[in-house]
Amino acid sequence: MTAVGIDAIEIHTGKLKFDLAETLAPVKDKDPEYYTKGIGLAASSFPDTYEDIVTMGANAAYQLMKRRDLSPQDIGRIDVATESSFDNSKPVSTYIAGCLEQVFDGDFHHANKGERKFACISGTQSLDDAYNWIRAGRHRGRSALVIATDTALYARGDAGEATQGAGAVAMLISENPDLVELSTEQGYGSADETDFLKPNQQFPSVDGKRSVQVYLARMREALEDFESVAGDTHPDDFELIPFHTPFPGMVRKAGLLGFRHMIRDTEIEEQLADEIGRQPRPEAFDSDEAYLDAISEYTDKLKGTETYQAWYDDTIAPTLEISREVGNWYTGSVHIARASGLKAALEADQDLAGERLLVGSYGSGAQAEIHAETVQEDWAEEIAALTIDEQIEARRDISFEEYERVHDVHNHDKQAEDVEEFTSPADEFVFDGWGRMGERKYRYVE
Ligand code: HMG
Repeated sequence: MTAVGIDAIEIHTGKLKFDLAETLAPVKDKDPEYYTKGIGLAASSFPDTYEDIVTMGANAAYQLMKRRDLSPQDIGRIDVATESSFDNSKPVSTYIAGCLEQVFDGDFHHANKGERKFACISGTQSLDDAYNWIRAGRHRGRSALVIATDTALYARGDAGEATQGAGAVAMLISENPDLVELSTEQGYGSADETDFLKPNQQFPSVDGKRSVQVYLARMREALEDFESVAGDTHPDDFELIPFHTPFPGMVRKAGLLGFRHMIRDTEIEEQLADEIGRQPRPEAFDSDEAYLDAISEYTDKLKGTETYQAWYDDTIAPTLEISREVGNWYTGSVHIARASGLKAALEADQDLAGERLLVGSYGSGAQAEIHAETVQEDWAEEIAALTIDEQIEARRDISFEEYERVHDVHNHDKQAEDVEEFTSPADEFVFDGWGRMGERKYRYVE
């Protein structure tokens, strides 16, 4: 069967930097380590006044198409995944296509365009749509452009304010991809939950503590479902495990539970038995409560073992490096986790061709999905082309007072006029005001 997967990837970060330890902690009277160690984030990327989901998505797609020397005729679909949309009818993909048509010859009139919504998991669902379209043979030799773009902003004062972010990931999905092949096997964990939602409002209503539990519960279900089709997983099967990363502290929890699950009934559990005992089994307990206490005690001990730490450092920690600097990008988050892990491997001179990744996506509301990926021969060239380090470095650091102003600019309920842009755009698309029907207008700046 011809391989189908991610052929190329480009990441575009919001151009402002909101430093959590330096800028947010003093205002909130919090210990800076609450952010850097507890939550696990150094900073959030924030959109400048002329940036939004369209500009960031279009800029990521523009760089990708330019680098791969693509023209609109090469693209048969454009799917945008976002939970920051501003129109209930016209999809963001039409705006992005309009931007790209300003700079490329030809048009996207024969490309199918859409917008996917399911909180943060819709980026991965859009990959699925593209994969299925190619597998069904409907693509006429063309590729799909999947763009995950969000301004992940919370209401001022919300606990989630520490986990904001803004950025876009553009991915080209093709036959015989250069980066990773997607597995046909998938697992889902999905349930009607009210952990995080935006009922006709811009900023989310969040039950933060519960959202963490729902993430873990759905992820466990998805892993079990994946194993029911792909067979049992083992920690040594995967070089990297990129998870949806609302903040690295969340993935610390997911990684530990995943490892505990994967080592059950394996030689690793046996090897650790002298040090921390074997995992408790539910049938040995009279009540669920007693079992849960015992498994939580075992998990705490497991976390302290060298075996677990070494696995975490190799398999999970590298996937968090970009996220730590940019915050939660919602739909793009798991895709920057994959890119981060691959980039760290490249920097460590690891050859990952033929190796496997396990990818755990999640969206509140709630659904988790797990699939595997196989790294392709030309992965290193593709990852070497990323410019995310340079973009992160070039961001303009904003003060708290500037943060307040720019947050207002992006708040749909506020009229924040005359806020000067903080950076100067170059070779990119910018927001250019409103049209006669309330549409947004965009322009390319050389
Ligand atoms: P909180 O309740 O303020 O934090 O906010 P906490 O009290 O749970 O502390 C976090 C960690 O910091 C804890 O460590 C503390 O011990 C530690 P842990 O127990 O987790 O290992 N800590 C410190 N560490 C070092 N030095 C210190 C210190 N103080 C405390 N001084 C919460 C956390 C997640 C609730 C909040 O950030 C929030 O509401 N975030 C938004 C919701 C969210 O991100 N949920 C994640 C799961 S849902 C999801 O991923 C979906 C999402 O992306 C949306 C979508 O799908 O569309 C959000």
